[in-house]
Amino acid sequence: ARLVVLVSGSGTNLQALIEACADPAYGAVIAAVGADRGGIAGLERAERAGIPTFVHRIADFPDREAWDAALTTATEAHEPDLVVTAGFMKILGKEFMARYEGRIVNTHPALLPSFPGAHGVRDALAYGVKVTGCTVHLVDTGVDTGPIIAQGVVEVTDDDHADGGEALHERIKTVERTLLVDVVGRLAREGHRIEGRKVRIPV
Ligand code: GRF
Repeated sequence: ARLVVLVSGSGTNLQALIEACADPAYGAVIAAVGADRGGIAGLERAERAGIPTFVHRIADFPDREAWDAALTTATEAHEPDLVVTAGFMKILGKEFMARYEGRIVNTHPALLPSFPGAHGVRDALAYGVKVTGCTVHLVDTGVDTGPIIAQGVVEVTDDDHADGGEALHERIKTVERTLLVDVVGRLAREGHRIEGRKVRIPV
């Protein structure tokens, strides 16, 4: 299966996918990496691995629709079977969703449906939960609302309140990378079918 991976930051999830894809048995290749901003470690990781990249910043377009159209066209050029949003901090637009809904995999650093949005780790910590984790799910038109494929659990310790959730996020990301690599590999090798809120693998 061909993947396009979208990133906005450090790209450690991307790195885990790059390493997994190095083994032909994994069943996926990263055709391109896209970003909504330049100068991020995620893009450097792609370049170091010889993967084509594209960057479309919302600020460079007259409106969100134009940005969405450009992102869709750039993604389409690489003919992905699956799109992975790995720390991509923008909501995908209508055109992108119309083209790829059902084939976009996202990873979120909380146990959905709790704590959706951009601050899942901080919000879970502030709420006082004792366990949190990460969720790999298909993207639908809501924010972190699509059908869940897999979740991983991470315990919260009292110390986690001292640093604003940084150490907790790192522990979550360790679990997240393994989970994302596992799910994307299964989808790539076996295919999937969506039945309501259930994602059936293989089809
Ligand atoms: C991940 O925890 C992702 O779920 C969140 O941002 C982090 C991205 O990390 N939205 P990285 O860029 O893959 O290192």
